Amino acid sequence: MIWLVHREIGTVIATPNGPAVNHFSFVLRETNQPSIPLQKGQFVQLNSMGLLIAMVENIVKTNRYFDHPDAVSEYERGGLPLSAIFPADRWEYIIAFAKPLGIFNNNQLSRVSFPPSPGDKVYLADNSILSKLLGLDSQGIALGHICYHEELTGTFNLTRLFQKHIAILAMSGAGKSYTTSVIIEELLNRRKELGRLGIVILDVHGEYTSFAESNNGGPDFSDRVTVIRSSYFTANTSYISSGQFAEMLPQMSPIQVRELTQIVAELQNTKSHNAYSLKDLITLIESKETLNKKTQETLLSWLYELQGFNIFEDFENPELEEAIKPGHALIIDLSDTTNLRKKQIIITYLARRLFNLRKRELIAPYAFILEEAHQFCPESAKRFAISRTIIETYAREGRKFGASLVVLSQRPVHLSTTVLSQCGTHIIGRITNPYDLDHIKKSSEQITKETLNLISTLPTGEVLVVGAACNFPVFVKVRKRLSKEPDFLKLEEAAVHFEKSKTI
Ligand SMILES: Nc1ncnc2c1ncn2[C@@H]1O[C@H](COP(=O)(O)OP(=O)(O)O)[C@@H](O)[C@H]1O
Ligand SMILES: [Mg+2]
Repeated sequence: MIWLVHREIGTVIATPNGPAVNHFSFVLRETNQPSIPLQKGQFVQLNSMGLLIAMVENIVKTNRYFDHPDAVSEYERGGLPLSAIFPADRWEYIIAFAKPLGIFNNNQLSRVSFPPSPGDKVYLADNSILSKLLGLDSQGIALGHICYHEELTGTFNLTRLFQKHIAILAMSGAGKSYTTSVIIEELLNRRKELGRLGIVILDVHGEYTSFAESNNGGPDFSDRVTVIRSSYFTANTSYISSGQFAEMLPQMSPIQVRELTQIVAELQNTKSHNAYSLKDLITLIESKETLNKKTQETLLSWLYELQGFNIFEDFENPELEEAIKPGHALIIDLSDTTNLRKKQIIITYLARRLFNLRKRELIAPYAFILEEAHQFCPESAKRFAISRTIIETYAREGRKFGASLVVLSQRPVHLSTTVLSQCGTHIIGRITNPYDLDHIKKSSEQITKETLNLISTLPTGEVLVVGAACNFPVFVKVRKRLSKEPDFLKLEEAAVHFEKSKTI
């Protein structure tokens, strides 16, 4: 066991309240290396009634010579630093505080029920043990490497990661879309025999369309990706029930809904073999003389307003039953639509239609990736969004049917609590807003105060994965993406481009 000797990093110490079952401290072994061989969030192991694995939660330095400010001040008044008089440097120690996570006995993981002993040697955790502890799956979604364990890839089991939905939460610029792109690459590259999902991306800022472009010799996903700009997106009006119209027009009274239901039923009967558009529905209402004039006018005014969005035709573009394929992505590029209500209508139609197709097993299990989710399923009634009901339905029932939600948000406090609490896995990047941090803490029992502190200082591209996907919260350094990055102009370039276009 020579390698264990090399990896020995410290010794468990006795403190007034430890070692205990849920925390212990150890003093770091003196090394010749200049840097501390240990970081917060890193995993260590020790032999204690089995192989105990723990996570380092804090690291402090201490030195008995500097314990008493009066003595330090008195000695240094003489003009000499304390270290010139006493061997003070040699009395500097590094103490790490660790939280035991589990114990392996005969390859079985169990809870820690007995504390380690003072004097026990502490080692850096072995990758294969750590992989088992975290519940990683070598055939899973490879997000990057486990932080401070460069050789251990964070591969998360597909079912554990997706089935109970994913929330990707971080402040703007901390890496949400980048992390999502890495997940999409993994899904697109997945082998058929391992089980592939269909992918739908609601691309609010047009950040994912580069997936469909060729990649100058680099890994190319363009053969597996379709982009539809929202200005070309159409819904087949015949697939929309009067109840769904009522959802889009929340001002409708129950009587008006009843009238509309009858008219829609009539249209369905007359057009039993043909699809119809919103225009057809409007024409029918216009021609109805039996209808109460006031109801007719009100219904028409609302339907004209919907007509103004140019979405409701007698055909679907893209044809969703064909467009959702395992190992393929459909990107709805919403960046050319500024009207929030139009975006919400597109998302509602798409989400409902796909959910129905999936329930009837007409399309593959799929992941529904929603950027800026707080705009489409907000918590507060003040920020009403018609898409909220269906997104919450995904969150509650999607797993029964193989419809997985991936929601991204930089404002978790504004995101529907139903959605957030139903998301089994949270992938959390840097967040500094105290309200958002507090909200995240409440939504997951596994996040301790120490972990929360680490979230606020995470560098871009590092995330905490917590929940169903892994047995314990773990920090992951998200890998570099393989696909083409979106070509966003730098501010200087955009400014030059603007002035040039003005002078022509
Ligand atoms: N894992 C990563 N590796 C390298 N660069 C990253 C990583 N994550 C994010 N970045 C950088 O940070 C920028 C912002 O990330 P992005 O995903 O767009 O943030 P967000 O969607 O949270 O606003 C990216 O354009 C990229 O340059
Ligand atoms: Mg983004």
